[in-house]
Amino acid sequence: MSETASDKHYWHRYTDTYEAAFARLGAVREIFEFGVFRGGSIAWLARRFPDARIVGADIVEPLPEWPRDPRISYERIDQGDRAGVQAMFARLGRRYDLLIEDGSHLPAHQAACLTDGLTWVRPGGLYVLEDIHTSHPANAAFAEHQAGGAPNALHVLLAIRHLKDRGRAMTPAIAARLAAPGFFAADEIVALSARIAALDLYRRSILPLWCYACGGDDFDYAALRCACGADLYNVADSMSFLLTRA
Ligand SMILES: C[S@@+](CC[C@H](N)C(=O)[O-])C[C@H]1O[C@@H](n2cnc3c(N)ncnc32)[C@H](O)[C@@H]1O
Repeated sequence: MSETASDKHYWHRYTDTYEAAFARLGAVREIFEFGVFRGGSIAWLARRFPDARIVGADIVEPLPEWPRDPRISYERIDQGDRAGVQAMFARLGRRYDLLIEDGSHLPAHQAACLTDGLTWVRPGGLYVLEDIHTSHPANAAFAEHQAGGAPNALHVLLAIRHLKDRGRAMTPAIAARLAAPGFFAADEIVALSARIAALDLYRRSILPLWCYACGGDDFDYAALRCACGADLYNVADSMSFLLTRA
């Protein structure tokens, strides 16, 4: 499985931005990624960080095509099982230099895994909340999974960034306004803000290399659509939050 098989590379075009963040990370020995799919990103991480141990976590049983190496291990976990996720991190007992959340992309899972996963990232380490566009109000996943439009990880991270930019604190009152059942409790938002030293949102502003739906690159540039009909330039697509742990 080639790393170019990952949609991080050809569709979202995240990898140049990730490389710039990796350059600031220092030694990378421990990596965790939610979401393995066909193993493309695990192959990429294994090549990019030859000294790192890598854990790939997915809801499905490991597939034969997933990369095999003594440095790589797999966990079967449902991100919707919050107690299970917490127990998994505690059992593994590692502090991650890099944690990428590229799993279910359900807004509630993005919120829970952020709260529970960031605590296992070492100070100065990087947490990548990939495909946060599914928490964008204009994304179909938001409409489908967030009846009532509760504040989710995108709202909370945008608030944290704005408050930091303005030199203001995340107060219990602001956190209470952002708290929502199934997403964040107010005290989790205050704690999350304190655990984040810096955060930035990447948003793809150029076209993908090729289409996720058909694999082709016969693009109608006037319509910003692939010949197969796929939307190449949706406002709520290819967004990734990069967080540096305090
Ligand atoms: C976008 S793919 C991962 C892509 C991979 N990281 C890459 O870049 O090549 C998402 C993966 O999340 C897994 N997934 C879906 N729902 C999940 C859940 N509730 N818990 C854990 N993993 C889940 C899917 O089985 C799928 O393999």
